[in-house]
Amino acid sequence: MANPIYLSVLNFKGGVGKTTTAITLARGFAKKGYKTLVLDLDHQGNASSGLGIDKNEEIFTLLELHDEVFKKKKPFDAVFPLMVSEIRENLFLLGGNLKIHAANNALASESVGRERQLVRLFSKLKGFDMCVIDCHADSSEITTNTMMLADYLLIPLTLDQWGYDGLSDVLTRLSSYREILGDDQVKVQVIGFLPTKVKLTTGADGAKKDQLLVAQGVRQALREQFPNMLLPDIRFSADIEKAQVSQQTIFDYENFNLKSNAAKDYWTLVENLEKKMFKKGAAKNGK
Ligand SMILES: Nc1ncnc2c1ncn2[C@@H]1O[C@H](COP(=O)(O)OP(=O)(O)OP(=O)(O)O)[C@@H](O)[C@H]1O
Ligand SMILES: [Mg+2]
Repeated sequence: MANPIYLSVLNFKGGVGKTTTAITLARGFAKKGYKTLVLDLDHQGNASSGLGIDKNEEIFTLLELHDEVFKKKKPFDAVFPLMVSEIRENLFLLGGNLKIHAANNALASESVGRERQLVRLFSKLKGFDMCVIDCHADSSEITTNTMMLADYLLIPLTLDQWGYDGLSDVLTRLSSYREILGDDQVKVQVIGFLPTKVKLTTGADGAKKDQLLVAQGVRQALREQFPNMLLPDIRFSADIEKAQVSQQTIFDYENFNLKSNAAKDYWTLVENLEKKMFKKGAAKNGK
């Protein structure tokens, strides 16, 4: 059995829609029959609560997985299935909460190969078609590790200066790793930049008009610097926040009726990424 395809959703800027994108995509892939795992590697635990899991309960996280496999030397296959929650058909979660800080310290304390500890830990993960990773907006040990583990990196950004800066920082960091560690160690490909929370019309106030101009400028700069990297927009929808309050993805909130603009756009993204990541007609592990 093959390893899953790993997709890491990352930007060094906070609040750009990383978690919303990670859980919504994962839910979309599960719906399409791909057996999908979400790794919540952010101490905020938003991916966990966004999928309906109470992060303050005694949930399993990367910390326990790391300790059981690396410290207690238990076989990955024996412990992993006991640590993941099944959220929906084909959708599984390894949770995140404040314990992720300790997991990060555990990775950082390795004397050799610390940036490849997640690759080592997950090398035995089989039976899933894909694994979507939600990271914190930083360049911590865990985030570095996910860059080594991932096959694809998806970079969401808001179309403003700081969203753009966060994206540039990720690319700069990635090229430093390639330079230092070599292309064979850093196999990850950037699959695209994803504009999120996009507003296409102005209200009456001038400030919003200015925001639209800034967004146009950022979009133009990205097109010129990185041809073909921009993915279709995810539009702003108030329903995203309503879904978040009810601890569901927008797809579940709308029962897959794709009513809101954001749900429509995320479904288009699922289909777009499916074409890029999966070979047509490949067997799925899901139901
Ligand atoms: N398309 C959208 N329309 C409206 N609101 C959105 C949209 N996408 C995300 N949001 C809202 O923006 C906020 C930030 O989103 P999210 O938590 O996904 O970002 P993040 O990059 O993961 O943040 P952090 O860096 O804190 O982890 C949330 O309140 C979310 O509900
Ligand atoms: Mg987040």
